[in-house]
Amino acid sequence: MNVKRKTSVPPRWRSEVERILITDEQLAKRIKILAHEIEKDFRGREMVVVSLLSGTVMFLADLIRQLNLPLRLDFIGVSSYGSGSESGELVFTKELRLDVRNRDVLLVDDILDTGKTLSRVLPKIRALKPRRIKTCVLLNKAARRVEKIQADYVGFEIPDYFVVGYGLDFAERYRNLPFVGVLHPHIYEVFSAK
Ligand code: IMP
Ligand code: MG
Repeated sequence: MNVKRKTSVPPRWRSEVERILITDEQLAKRIKILAHEIEKDFRGREMVVVSLLSGTVMFLADLIRQLNLPLRLDFIGVSSYGSGSESGELVFTKELRLDVRNRDVLLVDDILDTGKTLSRVLPKIRALKPRRIKTCVLLNKAARRVEKIQADYVGFEIPDYFVVGYGLDFAERYRNLPFVGVLHPHIYEVFSAK
């Protein structure tokens, strides 16, 4: 989907967010289409949606409200040490509680970047013997991929920018922005100088 449309960043965020990459309108429109696709593939069968904390909050809430089929929802907490814009050592902060054996699982994450997160999480879920696992990410930054992995459902293909908003953070901030925006490089330069 085209993500080039110009809309200006609200004044409050202008010094930190360079520009809007995906507007709230574009998000809503695309997520509706994505949900239809998923719904069709799962053919009305109950699924277990497994969502990775915390970047998926907004995407997840919007996506599952468009899914017209029975589902159960659970979370895996995963966080990377190395608090800036680079993903470091992965630590699990919350384990899955629902039983996924013989179930259809939809694994949801905010962004597929190097692929390290999903390639650590997928084997953990596979070990629980679900019937099948499909992966869904809001954003795909293919240029940064290190692991050989791709998602079954992708909201938007994006270039190699560090993005924030709509759940995505930089050092735990900016998750509340209603759009996906490009962070000013000076923000993470300041951060790494600290
Ligand atoms: P990966 O393990 O490198 O694929 O990265 C996945 C995780 O890194 C995501 O779940 C995000 O938490 C984080 N991440 C990667 N790129 C960005 C970005 O541009 N903005 C915010 N978070 C990001
Ligand atoms: Mg994250």
